[in-house]
Amino acid sequence: MMERKYRHDATITKVDHLDEDNVFLTLNAPELSELSKPGQFVELETSQFLNRPFGVAICDKKAGTVGIGVRKVGKGTKEIFEYKAGDKATLFGPFGYGFSISEKTSRAYVIGGGTGIYPLLFLLQELKRAGIKTYTGCGFQSLTHALMIDDFSHISDDYLTACEIGEADVSGTAVDALAELYERHGQSDGTIVYACGPIPMLKAVNAWCEENGIDAECSFEARMGCGFGVCRGCAIPVIRDGQPTYDRCCVEGPVFRRGVVDWEGL
Ligand SMILES: Cc1cc2nc3c(=O)[nH]c(=O)nc-3n(C[C@H](O)[C@H](O)[C@H](O)COP(=O)(O)OP(=O)(O)OC[C@H]3O[C@@H](n4cnc5c(N)ncnc54)[C@H](O)[C@@H]3O)c2cc1C
Ligand code: FES
Repeated sequence: MMERKYRHDATITKVDHLDEDNVFLTLNAPELSELSKPGQFVELETSQFLNRPFGVAICDKKAGTVGIGVRKVGKGTKEIFEYKAGDKATLFGPFGYGFSISEKTSRAYVIGGGTGIYPLLFLLQELKRAGIKTYTGCGFQSLTHALMIDDFSHISDDYLTACEIGEADVSGTAVDALAELYERHGQSDGTIVYACGPIPMLKAVNAWCEENGIDAECSFEARMGCGFGVCRGCAIPVIRDGQPTYDRCCVEGPVFRRGVVDWEGL
């Protein structure tokens, strides 16, 4: 049996500065591209201690490339922000369990906030390929913080931007966008909500889904240490066999079915 390769020596082929805090990198990494599934993440090596996790945002298996969107936060991401086309980068992965796309899925509401919007692009790409209708809502602090609106509009059957400040399609949060999209498109058998973003957003998505009786898969960006299951620094509370316990975001996640998560314990 061929051994699975986790380390990938990649070349950065394209660098798009989306705004002063966000950059989108395209990397040539054919094996990584071949193995990646939507919702999985990669670890990028920097000069800092511990690698930095990022959701796979774009995957072009034909071209052998993957894309990641990176927000400048601390030392590691500041370093990544300086990368240029032609630079070499070391990536590890793909890691974790991603989103599931079932044959029964007929329509999908795709909801993102913060850096959680990036991995949803890859998910939307695969949902489209599977012929599933997609209704997408992304929440930003204000319109000046809004990112990749054209990409999301282009790939979704309907798309709304939600902002709490300023004029947007929806005045409010990503969950208000979800409610508006649901009002427009409703549900049928096989409706699911996919969400990725900060914990308060995921909690609100869960509450909305509970109210409306819709299943969901939520992707968590838990603070990570080792990134491969050893330190347990990324644990989130879950209920398994009726008992409260913890799952590791980097191994059992980062995507969890909403019924598994112990929302009260978060
Ligand atoms: C599964 C997953 C997917 C992610 N996808 C994206 C993405 O697509 N785009 C994006 O911009 N960011 C994403 N993040 C968050 C990103 O990993 C952090 O912003 C980044 O690690 C911060 O590194 P830093 O050195 O700049 O910050 P520092 O605060 O200096 O980091 C210190 C340490 O804390 C860890 N850390 C800090 N913030 C986070 C965080 N939010 N999540 C996990 N570890 C953190 C770092 O990895 C590092 O080990 C994701 C996180 C996870 C867990
Ligand atoms: S980050 Fe170490 S166990 Fe998940």
